[in-house]
Amino acid sequence: MNLKLRFWISGVALASTLALAACGGSTDGAASGSATKLNVSTAGEALQFAPAALNATAGQQVQVTFKNGSTAQKHNWVLVKGGDAEAQKVDDAGATAGEAAGYIPTDPNVISSVKLLEGAASGTASFAAPAAGNYTFLCTFPGHYAAGMKGVLTVK
Ligand code: CU
Repeated sequence: MNLKLRFWISGVALASTLALAACGGSTDGAASGSATKLNVSTAGEALQFAPAALNATAGQQVQVTFKNGSTAQKHNWVLVKGGDAEAQKVDDAGATAGEAAGYIPTDPNVISSVKLLEGAASGTASFAAPAAGNYTFLCTFPGHYAAGMKGVLTVK
């Protein structure tokens, strides 16, 4: 084999290796860059979320799509930094904030939220999942949390 041909062959091998590496790299990038998508909704006029249990991985980007399945009632979806005690504080602050604010208060206990939705409407919330733990989510429309409209996001 002459030197020129050997050089050409090694060049082709190197180009193939680089092409494969670039391909694998972009696939990995797409996987780690896409958000974990979670869906939650209400069924009819029931004051409850389905499912009431959601799961996420700490630090991972999460996109929650909330669909208000009611025809007559408005609902929102609010994730709080804590459990029932924090949810109660956010619920109280939401009532004070009023309908103009969608009953969603500007409050350090709120991690993320989907705005107050009319019946049959959908909305999304995007956030980075917090540290491992259990986080309550609720609807802060007056009276709904008290009626049991809540759930838990478990982060591992
Ligand atoms: Cu509600």
